[in-house]
Amino acid sequence: MYRSHTNGELNLSNVGQEVTLSGWVQKVRDKGFVIWIDLRDRYGITQLILDEDRTDTSLLEKTKTLGREFVIQIRGTVIERQSKNEKIKTGAIEVLVSEMQVLNEALLPPFTIEDETDGGEELRMKYRYLDIRRNPVKNSLIFRHQVTQEVRNFLTNEAFVEVETPYLIKSTPEGARDFVVPSRMNSGQFYALPQSPQTFKQLLMVGGMDKYFQIVKCFRDEDLRADRQPEFTQIDCEMAFVEQEDILDVFEGLTRHLLQKVNNIEIGDFPRMTFDHAMKTYGNDKPDVRFGMEFGELNTVSKHRNFKIFDEAELVVGIAVPGGAFYTRKEIDKLVDWVKRPQIGALGMIYVKCNEDGSFKSSVDKFYDQEDLAKWAKETNAKAGDLICVLSGQTSKVRAQMSALRMELAERLGLRNPKEFAPLWVVDFPLLEWDEDSARYHAMHHPFTSPKPEDMHLLDSDPGKVRANAYDLVLNGNEIGGGSIRIHDKKTQALLFEHLGFRPEEAEEQFGFLLNAFEYGAPPHGGLAFGLDRLVAILAGKETIRDFIAFPKNNSGRDVMIDAPSKLDDSQLTELSLQLNLAEHKEV
Ligand code: AMO
Repeated sequence: MYRSHTNGELNLSNVGQEVTLSGWVQKVRDKGFVIWIDLRDRYGITQLILDEDRTDTSLLEKTKTLGREFVIQIRGTVIERQSKNEKIKTGAIEVLVSEMQVLNEALLPPFTIEDETDGGEELRMKYRYLDIRRNPVKNSLIFRHQVTQEVRNFLTNEAFVEVETPYLIKSTPEGARDFVVPSRMNSGQFYALPQSPQTFKQLLMVGGMDKYFQIVKCFRDEDLRADRQPEFTQIDCEMAFVEQEDILDVFEGLTRHLLQKVNNIEIGDFPRMTFDHAMKTYGNDKPDVRFGMEFGELNTVSKHRNFKIFDEAELVVGIAVPGGAFYTRKEIDKLVDWVKRPQIGALGMIYVKCNEDGSFKSSVDKFYDQEDLAKWAKETNAKAGDLICVLSGQTSKVRAQMSALRMELAERLGLRNPKEFAPLWVVDFPLLEWDEDSARYHAMHHPFTSPKPEDMHLLDSDPGKVRANAYDLVLNGNEIGGGSIRIHDKKTQALLFEHLGFRPEEAEEQFGFLLNAFEYGAPPHGGLAFGLDRLVAILAGKETIRDFIAFPKNNSGRDVMIDAPSKLDDSQLTELSLQLNLAEHKEV
């Protein structure tokens, strides 16, 4: 038996007991006549004691050879501690060691394995197994487990069935590039790893599963950010015989359940907002509604005063920054520099100080009088003491810039409280979006999303105006889930493929299996997928998903611990018919 107890459970009620403990040596404090060891495992830390009066000399000598992170097993007696440590669960006791065995030695770890570590990000990723011994990482993984368990409980209770779908499939368009896997047995052919199990879950509905879910890995070859990994996990769901309302209902329930079980928070309102409203009022489709600073459009109250920049702009828009009237000139200049950074890309920023006495002072006083500026204040909801920041230009660009400024200012003003949760459904997304690079329409969600029947007539005349039965779940300014009601008849699906630029043969080759299935009694169906990594991070009050993934990739998509991706040797390449292809490639 390696242990009778873990290192997180002994207390005063165990005093006098003989125990066996195992774990890692976190710290040895050698005072000569007495030695203390902090012994750690997943459950906590127990203090061990050996001293000249009560311990064998040979055991004392052996203890002096212990290094950090050695794995040891001890036997001893639980005794009451003289100076107690209230901060840890086992802080009232210590274990007087009578026997000790070194189970494994350890090299000196490259960074300290404590809550606050001296290790940089790359180093910790390289030695992730050591990083996982640290409380912050360990607790994040345990937290993730807890969320996952609650998801399974809730969905199982709602009669969902967890079904596994394959990883070696063919491309499912979700807007990113595919990771591909060469097939040895089918020379020159490739599988694609799923960007999501989208088509399979729809086929499960045709198969009559009715309510499906899966906690599943998805793979997308796209540029990485704090909230994106090339392989990530979805809580993927699909339901048959449902309308949008039914789906929103179930997953509002799941979100409430998680917030209640995991965060002990009861959510009151669960608001909904149309995509158009979100774009107009917050400049993006995943607004953080924990704070105001809503956009005020100023076109009608800023044009025709001979201020050329505004006169020529497609959109003039402002936000009120609480308390900003007291910013110094230097602070405002810094803000202007911030919006002019290439990442934001504004050409400049106009500002208006709303003075306490009700007067206004702006950077465009030459063009606008107090009455004009009062109108701006009204449109942006600015109060005395606020600063109105105004940007102008092409609508989509200005909205994106203003949205970035709004989030930055909210962060600086401490308005993004990680302990507060504001979920929001964004609904009525456009079906299609124009892509400048390929000069054609793309599906905004994915090609299986159904258009709103009342907008179908616009599909030929004004495709960009057609709205979809698609929705996103937003939590604290992050898109944590998205889904749609699907097309379930072959004719509409074929029509959509056509509008997305697929020739009928192409659609048949890529999606024939789905179109076929639709001819065998496909029920009306729809669903959604949550990003589990994002959901977990946000519930924990964080936005970086890497901390909640046991073995994440770095910003260049590398696993620095196992050093992947890596080259294949020649024989493997030949077996996969890859070398041959490369050689052929060169000849061309
Ligand atoms: P979508 O593409 O919106 O929908 O993805 C669903 C959710 O997955 C998360 N997500 C990611 N998380 C981490 N890293 C990534 N690279 C990443 N990409 C996406 C987001 C997102 O909201 N098949 C559809 C769902 C459906 O229609 O039912 C789909 O995959 O939180």
